[in-house]
Amino acid sequence: MSRVTLERLLQSQGFGTRRNCQQLIAAGHVRVAGEVVLDPRLQVHGEGLEFTVFDEPWVSSEHVYLALNKPAGYECSRRPSHHPGVLSLLPEPLRARGVQPVGRLDHDTTGLLLLSDDGAFIHAQSSPRRKVPKHYVACTRDPVTPELVGALLAGVQLHDEPAPLAALQCEPLGTNRVAIALEQGKYHQVKRMLAAAGNHCVALQRVAIGRLRLDALDLPEGAWCHLGEAERELLAPG
Ligand code: URA
Repeated sequence: MSRVTLERLLQSQGFGTRRNCQQLIAAGHVRVAGEVVLDPRLQVHGEGLEFTVFDEPWVSSEHVYLALNKPAGYECSRRPSHHPGVLSLLPEPLRARGVQPVGRLDHDTTGLLLLSDDGAFIHAQSSPRRKVPKHYVACTRDPVTPELVGALLAGVQLHDEPAPLAALQCEPLGTNRVAIALEQGKYHQVKRMLAAAGNHCVALQRVAIGRLRLDALDLPEGAWCHLGEAERELLAPG
């Protein structure tokens, strides 16, 4: 984005139609560099512009990359049916610009979820060929035994899979907790692997994707943040 009018910039950032954006500006709700701007046709930098709308600060960007600490009870699907959707946790301008979850977590799974409006990023991150480990902590109904850990590391057969699936890493964290890292992202994979190994998952949290750790983001449940370039590099394979 080079130089654009303020009304076009607001429109590109999800603040409604061009007409809505003109009205927001003309009504004095938009500030650039701390000053109210009343001219919708003011020329501004398209990328990296700091502005406020209703005193809420924003920085313009072609795409957004977000991390959400997903709470239980939210669906990742585009058309949630039984629970509210994760997008309802984001402000309207981010939803309006087409932000979507990268992959899915079950409605009762908590933890790190990426979201973006960059189709190439979403596609690359969700590709089954992308070998980026996803790290989970599962609470189990029955104690975590050395046999369970051994079975998950050796590979367990799931019903609709042609070959056994193995965890990349698996480590007990206490009597009923286990850390599991997976390279694939198959449907209900952690829960189905635990079931196939003779246990049952009672709670599941995704704690990291690649080297991007949820605890390093310091996000309370339900909160989200922008991911900068350095954080996105932690999502790279290897
Ligand atoms: N594995 C599961 O079983 N559920 C998730 O939400 C993620 C991985």
